[in-house]
Amino acid sequence: MILIDGKKVAEEIKQNIKIQISELKEENNKLPGLVTIIVGDNPASQVYVNMKSKTCIELGMNSKVEQLDGNISEEVLLTIIDKYNKDENFHGILVQLPLPKHIDEDKVIEKIIPEKDVDGFHPINVGNLVIGKDTLFPCTPYGILKLLEKYHIETKGRHVVVVGRSNIVGKPVANLLLQKKDNANAIVTVCHSATSDISKYTKQADILIAAMGKPKFITENMVKENAVVVDVGTNRVDDPTAKKGYRIVGDVDFDNVSKKVSHITPVPGGVGPMTIAMLMYNTLKAYQRKNNL
Ligand code: GUN
Repeated sequence: MILIDGKKVAEEIKQNIKIQISELKEENNKLPGLVTIIVGDNPASQVYVNMKSKTCIELGMNSKVEQLDGNISEEVLLTIIDKYNKDENFHGILVQLPLPKHIDEDKVIEKIIPEKDVDGFHPINVGNLVIGKDTLFPCTPYGILKLLEKYHIETKGRHVVVVGRSNIVGKPVANLLLQKKDNANAIVTVCHSATSDISKYTKQADILIAAMGKPKFITENMVKENAVVVDVGTNRVDDPTAKKGYRIVGDVDFDNVSKKVSHITPVPGGVGPMTIAMLMYNTLKAYQRKNNL
């Protein structure tokens, strides 16, 4: 069994970006910048946003965190996004999700101009992905493709089964792997909450992508021998023995599934670090596109 080391691959991608940014600096160019907008005080969101900002700074990008009150109106939030749409210092705008219930997430996503939508969530970017055009791709799905590529895992003509159909992971990863391109070209099945016998499908997977947000849902008997398993789950489960009182577990029962497969991503240290690396990649890409580089 080969453990897919997302931390290591993410580090390689980040180092590569860091070099590209240092070259921009030498030529006295304006630098890529990312603004992260966070509404309210969701503790998990705070952790993610801090990691994103810290990584920007490590790589030499400009970073700004816009912390907004949880009671802010939708109208004011949309006005703030519009201000950053016009601000030439920022090439990427990321609004951390989830948002408080009184704010319509779709409206917020649609307010960000597609050129700065480094999450790849805007309907224009989603549409471009579906029709096979190069665009800003959602970070976690794109990170999964990079992991498969780095570990030389063939996807062409292989059966990929995705469990979960979220707009952030399930749907975009299915669409990316369906593309008629190198490192894609897969046969894709998507299972979801209305799939009555999920194991019927998962057992057929050459590559299984678990992204439904249910701790240890994928068990050994649901997986084919020598399959590749990608675990996108980051579930907080109570653990009185842990320092923080909880620990993070994936959607896959790692201890048992790992005995049976050819490759598997751990949680943490698998897909997670790739999300941030690809966010940096997208911010640089947005910058390059803006400057015709
Ligand atoms: N919340 C959980 N994942 C994500 C993500 O990839 N982007 C944003 N903006 N919010 C998230």
